Amino acid sequence: MHISIITLFPEMFSGVFSASIVKRAIEKGKLDITFVNLRDFASDAYGSVDDHPYGGGTGMVLRVDVIDRALQHTRSLVKNSTQRAILMTPQGETYTQHKARQLSTVDHLIILCGHYEGVDERARALVDEEISIGDYVLTGGEIPAMVLTDSVARLLPDVLAKPDATINESFENNMLEYPHYTRPERYGKASVPAVLLSGNHKKIMKWREEKALERTQKRRPDLLLKARKDLA
Ligand code: ADE
Repeated sequence: MHISIITLFPEMFSGVFSASIVKRAIEKGKLDITFVNLRDFASDAYGSVDDHPYGGGTGMVLRVDVIDRALQHTRSLVKNSTQRAILMTPQGETYTQHKARQLSTVDHLIILCGHYEGVDERARALVDEEISIGDYVLTGGEIPAMVLTDSVARLLPDVLAKPDATINESFENNMLEYPHYTRPERYGKASVPAVLLSGNHKKIMKWREEKALERTQKRRPDLLLKARKDLA
């Protein structure tokens, strides 16, 4: 997979992408990341990428012509590929594990990081979708772009050590994951549930299913409602 990130702040990504699963995906040749600096597509010699909003108001708005040039350039970077251009914005569709799985099948993901007060409304027509990572406002789309990249990278084939490691995770099948334990067997008054020490694989599976359901019911009943709707 190739991910291109259009941003004014490429330097923000170095720490996150030079560690963790993203690093491993790159080293294994499963992921290529290219940064495209929006500033390189500025409309004047001063490198202006934004301007004051028509109608007045505070803040600056990213210009549609600058975004258009950056997107056209970025789309041409990877030939013969399925592409999806995504604008990171708090106004987008809320990001989910389901969406991460969908995006992990695309050859070339293009992530446009919004900044300042926002982007010119006309830029929305230039992307395929808009994604928000949650109902809160960040300074820009860079941290959301890191979130998206990390969540997609770990789903790429042969990136995680165990290929089935992501199958039982939280949010797969609209469920939270069952509780985990490791040594020590007893910590203060808290013991590991006996069933996990029983060696009875069937019983352990059943216990985990029950706990996952119980936990989802208690903490995220909305996920179960969603699961029911998906089945209907
Ligand atoms: N940019 C600023 N806040 C954001 C959010 N919550 N999700 C995606 N992009 C953003």
